[in-house]
Amino acid sequence: MNIKNNIILAMDLMDILEAYEVVEEISDYINTIKIGYPLTLAEGLESIGIFKDNFDFNIICDYKVADIPETNSKIADLTFNAGADAIITHGFVGEDSVKACLDVASDYDGDVFLLTEMSHSGAQMFLQGVADDIAKMGLEMGIKNYVAPSTRLNRLSEIRNIVGKDSFIISPGVGTQGGDPKDTLEYADALIIGRSIYASNNPKEATESILNSLK
Ligand code: XMP
Repeated sequence: MNIKNNIILAMDLMDILEAYEVVEEISDYINTIKIGYPLTLAEGLESIGIFKDNFDFNIICDYKVADIPETNSKIADLTFNAGADAIITHGFVGEDSVKACLDVASDYDGDVFLLTEMSHSGAQMFLQGVADDIAKMGLEMGIKNYVAPSTRLNRLSEIRNIVGKDSFIISPGVGTQGGDPKDTLEYADALIIGRSIYASNNPKEATESILNSLK
């Protein structure tokens, strides 16, 4: 995926008009947004089409899909049919569930991002222990796109080692959760940034300041 300035806006505002205003303000700097449950549950799957049609952005749906294969297929089908370019799926549910998402994605020529380890501290309780195996499974399945945390650079670096330089890693946890943009890009291909931009008083200046910090 071609991600302008290596920044993905995590749009977790729950009002589509407010979300639209923020995106419009920074649309010179980004071409990719991540939509998750907050906006989708508040405003519907139509939110995807609104950003696709008006900005022609890449839309990554962060639905952290984690169900049995049959249900994953339905979730992925609805997501891609609504206009998404990619979906984030959990890896801990195993190969068959992940494959269900991959199969649907290929019908739509879409992408699957495999979530390895999450960025919040609770991920260290359970998920961290299997994250390397999830990354290895992804590699064996031929998956090219991964999600790994900016909040623990040692783990991000380890996951990069496993999936290799040809894989594409996007990394959440930058800014409000403590991850540093420049350091993260040593190992990741793109940053996922939410509150530091959309909750700032001036999203445009906040984005410019992040871009300056990358120089
Ligand atoms: P903030 O406001 O903290 O937003 O910049 C971060 C965004 O990323 C999501 N998030 C994750 N998504 N794996 C994911 O797939 C993760 O480990 C992870 N950690 C945070 C979060 O929901 C928000 O949209």
